[in-house]
Amino acid sequence: MNEHDSLLSLAAAVSAPAYVRHPRLLAWVRDVAALTRPDRIVWCDGSDDEYNRLCTEMVASGTMKRLNPARRPNSFWAASDPSDVARVEDRTFICSAREEDAGPTNNWVAPDEMRKSMNALFDGCMRGRTMYVVPFSMGPLGSHIAHVGIELSDSPYVVVNMNLMTRMGRAVYDVLGGDGVFVPCIHSVGMPLAAGQADVPWPCNKDQKYIVHYPESREIWSYGSGYGGNALLGKKCFALRIASVMGRDQGWLAEHMLILDVTSPAGEKTYVAAAFPSACGKTNFAMLIPPAGFEGWQVSTIGDDIAWIKPHDDGRFYAINPEAGYFGVAPGTSDESNPNAMRMLHANVIFTNVALTDDGDVWWEGMTREPPAHLTDWQGQSWTPGCGRKAAHPNARFTVSSIQCPSLDPHWDSPDGVPIGAFIFGGRRSDTLPLVVEASSWEEGVYKAATMGSETTAAAAGKVGEVRRDPFAMLPFCGYHVGDYFDHWLKMGKAVAQPPRIFNVNWFRTDENGKFAWPGFGQNMRVLQWVVERCHGRGHATATPLGLEPGYEDLNWSGFDFPPDRFAQVMNVDYTLWRQELAAHDQLFAKLGAKRPAALAYERTQLGSKLGL
Ligand code: GTP
Ligand code: SPV
Ligand code: MN
Repeated sequence: MNEHDSLLSLAAAVSAPAYVRHPRLLAWVRDVAALTRPDRIVWCDGSDDEYNRLCTEMVASGTMKRLNPARRPNSFWAASDPSDVARVEDRTFICSAREEDAGPTNNWVAPDEMRKSMNALFDGCMRGRTMYVVPFSMGPLGSHIAHVGIELSDSPYVVVNMNLMTRMGRAVYDVLGGDGVFVPCIHSVGMPLAAGQADVPWPCNKDQKYIVHYPESREIWSYGSGYGGNALLGKKCFALRIASVMGRDQGWLAEHMLILDVTSPAGEKTYVAAAFPSACGKTNFAMLIPPAGFEGWQVSTIGDDIAWIKPHDDGRFYAINPEAGYFGVAPGTSDESNPNAMRMLHANVIFTNVALTDDGDVWWEGMTREPPAHLTDWQGQSWTPGCGRKAAHPNARFTVSSIQCPSLDPHWDSPDGVPIGAFIFGGRRSDTLPLVVEASSWEEGVYKAATMGSETTAAAAGKVGEVRRDPFAMLPFCGYHVGDYFDHWLKMGKAVAQPPRIFNVNWFRTDENGKFAWPGFGQNMRVLQWVVERCHGRGHATATPLGLEPGYEDLNWSGFDFPPDRFAQVMNVDYTLWRQELAAHDQLFAKLGAKRPAALAYERTQLGSKLGL
C-alpha cells in the first residue's frame, strides 16, 4: 500500500473525517479504541451544533438539567456523584522514568508498572459508550507559546466543558497538519456498560481513580473521575503538570497564575501575574473592580488560573493564558465579591454541584445575603435555610467561555502574549504572613514563593483548613522534582534583562474574633496600586526583616476608612509564629536533600538572621 492508501485505510478504520490527515494520530486513536472498546467513535469539530446536540442528549439522559431560559438562557445544571467532587491529589501520579525526577511532592510509580495497571484498567473500559476525539489548542491557535492536545474521552460532559475551556475544534487539525506534535490525553470515567445496562447521571468509578502523567513521553491517562481537573485534561494535567516539564526542558514557565492588566488614569499599562493556591482568590483578583477612590483606574482580565510565560528578546517575560474559559468556584461569588463574574454568568454556562431554585435558576452559599426559602440542593434533596446542610458543594463550579467576561482584556487572545511587570504570590493564612511585602531581589522572591504556605480548601479531596507548604501554588501541579523547579525559577531570573519584581500578599489575616481583618476583593486594589507603583520605580517602601514593605501612608486610602491600627494588625510580624514558620520552611527544604538550591539556603540564613531567629 502506498502512503496515501494507508492513510485512507487508517482513517476508515476509526471513521475519521477527511480533514484529519495525521497518520500517527489516527493510529493512536485506533490503538486506544482497540484497548477500550467503545461502541462508536465521534470526532468532535467544536461547532455550536455539536455543543447543542451533546447538551440536549445529556438533558435526555439525566446528566444535565436545562435551567429556566427566562432566568439563565442556554445554561445547564449538572450534579456529580458525591464521591467525585474535586481533584484527587493522592490518586495523581508523575510516572517519570526515574523516581528522583518526580521528587518528594509527587506520587511516583515506575512507568512500566503503571502502564501495566493502566492497560488492565482501560481494557474494555469504554464498552457501551462513545469515545469522543477532542482536538484542542492550549493558547491561541498557531501562537509560538501555544501547544496542541487531543483528548480521547468517553464523557460528553467533558466534551462540552472542553468546548468552553479551550480553543477546541476542527481548526486544530490545520495547525497539526500531517505530523504536528500533540499531547495525547486519554480519559475514561471507568464505568463500562454491559449490553442493556442503564447508565447513571454521573458515571465514574467509585473505587478506582488514577490521574497519570508520563513526563518523558508527555502523555496523560486519567481513569475513574469525570470532575474538573481530573477529567478536563487540558487544564491541570497538560497546562501545568506536563507543560511545567516542557518549560523546564525548553526554557519557559507554566504556572498556576492569573494574568491581569492594570491601566492607570494616565493610560500606563502594567501586566501582573499572580499565583494563589486553589480556591484562594485568583478568579476574584483577575476580575477586580477598582473601588471608590480609584476613579480612572481599570483592571482587565487575561486569565484566571494558568499562565505560560516565555522570555522575549526585549528583555521581558511574555505570558499567555493557555485556556479560553473559566472553571471557577461558585460559592462566595456575589454581586459584592465579584460583580464581573456575576455578569459573566448570565447565560451560556454549565453549573456543576450548585443548588437549584424552585424557578429553575441556580444558587450557592454567599450568592445572596438571604438564602431562598426553598431549594433543591446539589444532591437533589429538598433544602431549607437552617436544615444544617450546604445547598451547594463547597467546590461547586461554573464553566463559562472567556468571551463572556465583562473585564476581558483586548489582548487576552494575543498570540505574542503580554509583558509581565510583576509576579505576586499569595497564600491563605489567618496569621503569620503580612498583607503585602516585596522581595528585594529575584532570589529572595523565589525563596518567598518556594516557602509559601496555605490553608487547604475544598478544591482538593481531603481535609480543609490545614496549613501546608504550597510552593508557588504549584504543590499539586508541578510535574517534576520541586527542587529542580526552584532551580529553574532561579535560572529564569537570568533569562531576561528585566525580571519582574516579586511580591507576597495575604488577603486572609483574621482578627481576634476570627473575622477577616482585611476587607479584600475590590479593596485589594490598594495593594495592587502599590505593586504597580513599585514596578515603575515610584512607590515608597521600607526595608524590614521580611523585605520591602509599605507604611500606612504609602498606600492610597482615598474613599476608604481603614485606620492605621488596623493596617498595623494586617502587617504585624509575630516572632513566635515566625519561629514556627521558619521550622516549616526547613522541613520543606529537608525533603529536597541535595536538590535544595544553594541560593535558597543562603536566603534562609539571611532571613533567619534578619529576624534574629
Ligand atoms: P482555583 O480555580 O481553584 O484555582 O481557585 P481561584 O484561586 O481562582 O479561587 P477563587 O478566586 O474562585 O477563590 C474563591 C474563594 O476565595 C472564595 O471563598 C472567595 O470568597 C475567596 N476570596 C477571594 N478573594 C478574596 C479576598 O480578597 N478576601 C477574602 N477574604 N476572600 C477572598
Ligand atoms: C484548582 O483546583 O486549582 C482548579 C480547579 O483550578 S480544577 O480544574 O478542578 O483543578
Ligand atoms: Mn486552579
